[in-house]
Amino acid sequence: MIRVGIIGVGTVGSHVVKILQENEDIITARSGKRIIPVMGVVKNLSKKRDITIPLSTNVDDVLDNPDIDVVLELMGGVDEAYAIVTRALKNGKAVVTANKALLAYHRYELKDLAGNTPIGYEASVAGGIPIIKALREGLSANHIDAIKGIMNGTCNFILTKMMNEKVAFIDVLKEAQALGYAEADPTFDVGGFDAAHKLLILASIAYGIDVKPEEILIEGIEHISSEDICFAKEFGYNIKLLTIAKKSGDKVELRVHPALVPMGQMIAKVDGVMNGISVIGDRVGETMYYGPGAGGSATASAVVSDLIDIARHTQNSPMLGFITPLEKSGLSLMPKEEICTQYYIRVSVTDKIGVLSQISQILGKHNISISSFLQKQDALKANSAVLLFSTHTCKEREIQQALAELGALEFVEVAPAMIRIEA
Ligand code: HSE
Repeated sequence: MIRVGIIGVGTVGSHVVKILQENEDIITARSGKRIIPVMGVVKNLSKKRDITIPLSTNVDDVLDNPDIDVVLELMGGVDEAYAIVTRALKNGKAVVTANKALLAYHRYELKDLAGNTPIGYEASVAGGIPIIKALREGLSANHIDAIKGIMNGTCNFILTKMMNEKVAFIDVLKEAQALGYAEADPTFDVGGFDAAHKLLILASIAYGIDVKPEEILIEGIEHISSEDICFAKEFGYNIKLLTIAKKSGDKVELRVHPALVPMGQMIAKVDGVMNGISVIGDRVGETMYYGPGAGGSATASAVVSDLIDIARHTQNSPMLGFITPLEKSGLSLMPKEEICTQYYIRVSVTDKIGVLSQISQILGKHNISISSFLQKQDALKANSAVLLFSTHTCKEREIQQALAELGALEFVEVAPAMIRIEA
């Protein structure tokens, strides 16, 4: 028998209890043991919850309880969760967590501390999609060339609505919050941080590199405007918040940002609150994973799969997928400025002689070659126009310098906007 203590019994925790109780037959048959949720820890005992296990407000009731074998950390946050998981491991208890922020900052310390004690975290990335298992186990024979994903359901819901229904960003965000997709602080979603946390977890399994969120390129979707949506449609793109890891030589680029994705790509068709991830292995080629990346039941499904693994003793595979460091490859993070991609630039200008030539001069000076161009008169403002450019591949450093120079031109009315293109 495996006895589980749950710290944080919100939507996901309640679904875990339900799955363990209602699917007990199949779970016992698959794991060879009964998995029993014995105790939950919550902040507020008076809140109504649709579950039948005893609840406490004291974490010691789980952490110091000799009858509990596995601690399920579902409280979220970083520091308090780290203290709790650390204590659980020191007390010899296995841990299952859905906490991507915790792992984005502390996965290597936890791996070292755990040693042979299992830590499961399938639910931390893309909810119900078994992407950790796919990378750590199913694709373990491969060098991973690239991972490209939509890993934040809230952003995908917002962008899909903006593309299909001409709704403004702020209105769709409110709807996503009402539907319960967004994190407690939606900045984590729309600012790209939630997706970045997930990316770093996958990057450790794929490349064995230890990187913190502050070191990588993270941009959110807050600034996507109706002009951008219009350009995307006109030029055959969808706009997605992409989570990208790419190996080139001994460098790995890691980035999260909105991107223009050609409509024909599979990832461009992942709509609404769903997640989709493409992983390219050097031996298998491209593999694609699609499913619900958020929601109580889907996330709890991933949590319970970790509990079953622990019951089967198969969680003894190394937490981050490597038994010895990947020294031979010597992979390290590519500096943000060195990233190369294509760009779309939107510049609002006073419409007068010489504007276009000055802009193209600045782009040329920074080795930026224009691939397509569109000018739209501003319907609300006389003598104003919006200039939309897409570029051939160039360096992030060059584009940032060019944007700064464009922004300083006297006829440029607001700071130019840019979206990367992932063809
Ligand atoms: N807020 C997250 C999302 C939930 O929207 O995808 C799952 O991490």
